[in-house]
Amino acid sequence: MGFDISGKRIAVLGAGKIGVILLQALLERAMLSPDLACATVAHPERARALSEKLNVCVGTDNVSAIGDASIILVCVKPQVVQEVMQEISAHVSPDQLVISVAASVPTALIEKSFSSGIPVVRAMPNTPCAVGYGMTALCKGKFAEQRHLDSAAALFGMVGRTVVVDEKHMDAVTGLSASGPAYIYIILESLAEAGVKVGLPRDVATLLAAQTTMGAAKVVLETGDHPALLKDAVTTPAGCTVDGIMELEEGKLRVTLIKAVVKATQRAKELAY
Ligand SMILES: NC(=O)c1ccc[n+]([C@@H]2O[C@H](COP(=O)([O-])OP(=O)(O)OC[C@H]3O[C@@H](n4cnc5c(N)ncnc54)[C@H](OP(=O)(O)O)[C@@H]3O)[C@@H](O)[C@H]2O)c1
Repeated sequence: MGFDISGKRIAVLGAGKIGVILLQALLERAMLSPDLACATVAHPERARALSEKLNVCVGTDNVSAIGDASIILVCVKPQVVQEVMQEISAHVSPDQLVISVAASVPTALIEKSFSSGIPVVRAMPNTPCAVGYGMTALCKGKFAEQRHLDSAAALFGMVGRTVVVDEKHMDAVTGLSASGPAYIYIILESLAEAGVKVGLPRDVATLLAAQTTMGAAKVVLETGDHPALLKDAVTTPAGCTVDGIMELEEGKLRVTLIKAVVKATQRAKELAY
C-alpha cells in the first residue's frame, strides 16, 4: 500500500452513522487534521451539533463542501446519491476523487452524473472502522486509475483492512462484511445471555464472549487455516464441545447464517432503485 494521502482535503457528504465513524476515526488517529476535513448533513441543527462535537466544518451545502477537496467521500443513503451527484456534478473536476460508500449504487451510475470522466471508487466499509478493525472492500470505476484505488486503500487502510474486488461482488460484500457486525453482535449477545444462564455475571459473560470471538477471528486471519480444522482442534472426542456443536446443528445455525447473508445480498441489489 504505502500511498500517501496526508495533507489531502477530504469532504464527507452525508455525515451520518458511517460518515461520522470514518471521519471521527481518522481525526482521532491524527490521520486527518480538522482543518483538512469538511462534512455535510441534511439538517442545519445537526450540522451545528456535529461541528461542535468533531471540531470540523459541517454544513448543509454540498457544493461549497467539495470546493477544494481532493477526496469527496459520499456517505448518503443509496436513494439520495443521484440527487447529491446532480447537485455537485458541475463543480467536480477530474483531479478530484469521488469515493462512494453507498450500498447498491454502481460506479457507472455515479459516473453518469458528470459530463467529464471523473474518477470514482466504490467502497464498502463496516462499523468496526470506528476502532481501527474495519473491513472495507474496494473497486474502481472506468475513469479511476490504480493511483485512485491506492488512495482509497490508504484512506480505509488507516481504519482497518482493505481488499479489492470486482464490482460484481460488491452486493455480496455488503451482505457479508458490511451487515456482518450486526450478525456478530447478535451472536455475542446470545453467548453472553447463555453465560448468564449458566451462572456467570453479565459483565464477565460479555467479556468471555467478545474476547473469544475476537481470538477465534484472529486465529483464522493469522494462520489462514480452514475454520473447520480449527473447530476440530477444540472438539475433544466425547468431550463437552461436541455436545454444544450438536445443539448448534440442531438449531440450524449454519444454514441460518448462510440465509442471512443471501437475503442481505439480495436486498443490497435493490436499495438504490
Ligand atoms: N451504517 C453502516 O454500517 C454502513 C456500512 C457501509 C456502507 N454504508 C452506506 O453508507 C451510507 C449511509 O449510511 P448510514 O447508515 O450512515 O445512514 P445515515 O446515518 O442515515 O446517514 C445519512 C446521512 O446523510 C445525510 N444527508 C441526507 N441527505 C443529504 C443531502 N442531500 N446532502 C448531504 N447530506 C445528506 C443525513 O443528514 P441528517 O443527519 O441531517 O439527516 C445523514 O447524516 C448508505 O449509503 C449505506 O449504504 C453504511
